[in-house]
Amino acid sequence: MTGAERRAALEDIAAEVRACTRCRLHETRTRAVPGEGDHDTEVLFVGEGPGMNEDREGRPFVGRAGGLLERLLASIGWQRDDVFITNVVKCRPPGNRDPEPDEIAACAPYLQRQTAALDPSVVVTLGRFSMATFMPGVRITQAHGTTRPADPETGALDATVFAMYHPAYALRNPTVERESFEDVASVPEVLLASRERRRVARHARRPTPTGKTDDDHPTSTTHPAAPTSDADQLSLF
Ligand code: URA
Ligand code: SF4
Repeated sequence: MTGAERRAALEDIAAEVRACTRCRLHETRTRAVPGEGDHDTEVLFVGEGPGMNEDREGRPFVGRAGGLLERLLASIGWQRDDVFITNVVKCRPPGNRDPEPDEIAACAPYLQRQTAALDPSVVVTLGRFSMATFMPGVRITQAHGTTRPADPETGALDATVFAMYHPAYALRNPTVERESFEDVASVPEVLLASRERRRVARHARRPTPTGKTDDDHPTSTTHPAAPTSDADQLSLF
């Protein structure tokens, strides 16, 4: 997908979300919250669902949890505009209750399509519900700060998933908040590793005139190109 096609796909999804009536959450929402960010980013952050402030503004993570998410990003030198931020359900569950399984299932195709359009190198899950989508069958107390390959059924073409606690939970628990700063510190190196893994995989798939693939050249896997500078390594672009 070209950048323009990606932008158009994400804008189409957002328009559908704003008009969506696929589950009961549409009845109580003020505004649906499709998600926002850099359409060309390599990193997708996925939260649980909009809260009161998000429901009012139609934008993700604009309340207190969003403030912590921005501080977590700032601690690694990133800003919210550098990444794409969305949620498992796009409309606020009344009273901030947990989303129900049928609501998550109804909304899943939007997240799947966003993930497929962005084709991120890294998906960072925020909280249990997002983690359960991309990294099923694990407990967050064990899985936070760790990676798994994303299941292609989530729409991820070739992504590494990195689990974090939900920022709203971290706000209520100083130990979890401290662990969240420790966890997010790994995200740049997770990005580097995933970017390199994808580069090698793409290289290996490229056909050659002899009918062999570049896989047959061991240099493509054993001697990855050295990054040119630390700044290049950690930059999103
Ligand atoms: N919590 C979430 O999970 N998502 C938001 O967008 C805001 C708070
Ligand atoms: Fe549609 Fe998702 Fe909102 Fe339900 S939560 S109405 S499926 S956009």
